[in-house]
Amino acid sequence: MPKDNLNQDNIEISRRKMMGLVVGVINLGLIGAIVGPMVGFAAAPLGNKRKSRWVELMDESRIKPGEVKEVNYSLLVVDGYHEVEQKFTVFLRRSEEDVICIDPACTHLGCRVDYHADQHKFICPCHGGVFDDEGTNKSGPPPKPLERHPVKIEAGKIWISREV
Ligand code: FES
Repeated sequence: MPKDNLNQDNIEISRRKMMGLVVGVINLGLIGAIVGPMVGFAAAPLGNKRKSRWVELMDESRIKPGEVKEVNYSLLVVDGYHEVEQKFTVFLRRSEEDVICIDPACTHLGCRVDYHADQHKFICPCHGGVFDDEGTNKSGPPPKPLERHPVKIEAGKIWISREV
């Protein structure tokens, strides 16, 4: 094979390699430009850490020792990329010593429990789970007590802390 032809072939191969490399780099750039923002968009809510917030519920004089009271309130909550007003319900139970705040979400599958004052029990309407008036699971499928939220009393007002 003449030497000139050999050089021509080598140049052709190098040119092809170079073109392949350039196309590969462009493709990687395009993939990064398309996929990067999608991943960032999808993962952004994961970076929104839930924060504890103290919420004033009511005057402490509105609940007597031995009483369980259902309290409804609403909060602005970050939901993905929006702040939306969300309604919540908790039960406050007052003893001689303190006030506890019980979350109504059943610890079995999350149905909302009802308080039956005549029986001093929380009963779940979904599968019949029963909790005493402090939220301790007594019978049925719930595997653990109802969740509690921290409570503080300041200047005659009952506050609870919750993550939102
Ligand atoms: S969800 Fe409450 S007992 Fe099943």
